[in-house]
Amino acid sequence: MRVPLLDLKRQYESIRSDIDAAIREVVESQRFIKGPRVSEFEEQIAGYCGTKRAVGVASGTDALLLSLMAYGVGPGDEVVTTPYTFFATAGSISRLGAVPVFVDIEARTYNIDPAKIDAVLTDKTKAIIPVHLYGQCADMDPIVALAKDRGVAVIEDAAQAIGAEYKTRRAGSIGDVGCFSFFPSKNLGGYGDGGMVTTDDLAIADRLVSLREHGQGDKYFYTAVGANSRLDALQAAILSVKLRRLDEWSDGRSANADYYNARFAGTSVVTPHREEWSRHIYNQYMIRVPRRDELLAHLREREIGCALYYPLPLHLQECFSSLGYGEGDLPESESAARETISIPIFSFLTDEEKDYVATTIIDFLSS
Ligand SMILES: Cc1ncc(COP(=O)(O)O)c(C=O)c1O
Repeated sequence: MRVPLLDLKRQYESIRSDIDAAIREVVESQRFIKGPRVSEFEEQIAGYCGTKRAVGVASGTDALLLSLMAYGVGPGDEVVTTPYTFFATAGSISRLGAVPVFVDIEARTYNIDPAKIDAVLTDKTKAIIPVHLYGQCADMDPIVALAKDRGVAVIEDAAQAIGAEYKTRRAGSIGDVGCFSFFPSKNLGGYGDGGMVTTDDLAIADRLVSLREHGQGDKYFYTAVGANSRLDALQAAILSVKLRRLDEWSDGRSANADYYNARFAGTSVVTPHREEWSRHIYNQYMIRVPRRDELLAHLREREIGCALYYPLPLHLQECFSSLGYGEGDLPESESAARETISIPIFSFLTDEEKDYVATTIIDFLSS
């Protein structure tokens, strides 16, 4: 049996006629940039996340970049974040000439450890970017309290966490802005790149609308230097169709997580820790195991999809060597990078596939 890490064709088959109709409608309208499909989808996402506004952009990376620009982050400023995340989180800080300041993660959730943030805040700190890794929110209350106290912005990197909940609130509505990615493998994935910023701050939303169009105010008059970073109408139309099924798919992932949790109970597999206040949307199901690299090779040999997110934390990446971090500086991130592996979790997995994945891992680790 072959089990893919993610099979988007199964999802497409289940919504084919609606998707094809949505694409056809945009093509027939010949309105590919801006227009009603984009603004409708922005309203839908604002409603889904519980914010006043949502601004579509070209990718999750640009959602972060434009948000930092909207808060005026630039050369010499510091932005606090986690090193255990996708590159874009810190890359977008660096691209603006600002300095990413890395704080280690909590061992159980893989999210930034709020207790370690205060010690790195300086008068150069402009923002904190907590990442809701794998689909579970970071512990936001202490982060927001600290940020308020110091007058810095909280930019949620919610790229992997659409629909995740922190206590009573949805990801993207807890900090000052929330940044989402519609990369195809996300729980809400487009048929290409796409992103969104959510916020209750109307002035920031207006600034983002300007920044995504080169910093334009009135047509052909520019109040800032921005980027060309719009969400296109085809993606918006496709994503609107998929949004109607998002909760069903995320609940399916959660049910698969419950299945694996039960199968791995009492074994050497450490399953993802779900906080009791959390709705986890399981963009990834990460397990921590002994002999991780051997297991990786074994699963590949058995044609079971798996991946390492992320094999080298950002503070140890070559491009950040000038920041001066060394091995051992952020030990929880480093051990998570060495010991974890993700296994298939998408909602269209069959019972046989899940059984095969769980049995293969348990047999390997007890051999
Ligand atoms: C945590 C995180 N931040 C940012 C991004 C960037 O999103 P995109 O690939 O849409 O630019 C991703 C996407 O993989 C991500 O996982």
